[in-house]
Amino acid sequence: MRDAKLEGKRVLLRVDFNVPMDKEGDIIDDTKIRAALPTIEYILGRNASIILMSHLGRPQGKPDEKYSLKKLAVHLSRLLNKPVAMAPDCIGEETEKMADSMQPGSLMLLENLRFHNGEEQNDPEFASKLAKLGDIYVNDAFGTAHRAHASTAGLAAYLPAYAGFLMENEVNILNQVLDAPDCPRMAIMGGAKVADKLGLIDNMLDKMDILLIGGGMANTFLKAIGKKIGKSMCEDDLLNEALRLLQKAQEKKRRVLLPVDAVVAEEISNMVQPQVVSVDAVPDDMMILDIGPQTVEIFKNEIMKAHTIVWNGPMGVYEYDAFAEGTRQITLAIAQSKAVSVIGGGDSAVAAHDMGLEKQITHISTGGGATLEFLEGLKLPGVAACGL
Ligand code: 3PG
Repeated sequence: MRDAKLEGKRVLLRVDFNVPMDKEGDIIDDTKIRAALPTIEYILGRNASIILMSHLGRPQGKPDEKYSLKKLAVHLSRLLNKPVAMAPDCIGEETEKMADSMQPGSLMLLENLRFHNGEEQNDPEFASKLAKLGDIYVNDAFGTAHRAHASTAGLAAYLPAYAGFLMENEVNILNQVLDAPDCPRMAIMGGAKVADKLGLIDNMLDKMDILLIGGGMANTFLKAIGKKIGKSMCEDDLLNEALRLLQKAQEKKRRVLLPVDAVVAEEISNMVQPQVVSVDAVPDDMMILDIGPQTVEIFKNEIMKAHTIVWNGPMGVYEYDAFAEGTRQITLAIAQSKAVSVIGGGDSAVAAHDMGLEKQITHISTGGGATLEFLEGLKLPGVAACGL
């Protein structure tokens, strides 16, 4: 974006304002909106006007008041201390008129892009209608960069395309951890399912020296190596895949550390009295719901030695206090380590926010699915569209 001549232009800026909302439609967490402010302020500072585009939720190609961006316009206006005009739609005559009459330095937010099927279908006609609204296209929506939609990819065929600062920063830091030269490089993997992260584990085995595996996905690995895991969640269809990954680790001389003990209970509830057991002694009627204290110590010890850490997915059922300690301890250890540390969205980011440790982490990505796919080594359509 620094290379673009912005003065006096109308900039179509794709942002990811897909923020969590409560039942009343109020914003629960505005991190993604704040993350776009440097780009917005830079463009406004060049005396250009901005037409902001975003999706919110998955309204299935139809207008739905529940997914309107109106409240986001009000919120953004408060953050910038500036009026933000709300367009009635993202395309169409009335919106075009509003765009045509914009003054330099002014802002307008388009209504939810996903109110039209053309957005998710990456329909060229829809993209060309969006393109009519501006002179330059800037993509700052890293969180949506894994989608090949009209506003994230298609628009680049119609307007000069640039990356915003958030997009640039996310791509730079994720590339930096993927290509980190200093060993040991570590990936900490958690979350419920191996199925969601097969590609990620594969690529982490190529790029990293050591993998720490916790969370529900560790159960599948534990069962694959012959441990009895009681009634723990497990992906039985992926036992062979888990063995293949462990085999790959051996061939590439990567270390994979699985839990040695676990917090177990009969059910997922804060009312139960959890027990700590070795992974060799999980009772038949119990489930593994968090990593145990011995595993925490082993993982912490490794974290302190790492030069680069990338973390995705909690170590246990973090939403329940009874099974949150493993995730909290790992968050704390990462915050205390001197490593370049990156948290890839989702529940692990929530843990860092809940504990007020954001500032001690080098980077918390605004992407969920996008970050995962980037770390898998995939080319993201939204990143490619803006020339990064
Ligand atoms: C996200 O919140 O992960 C992005 O905005 C993408 O949303 P989507 O999964 O509905 O495409």
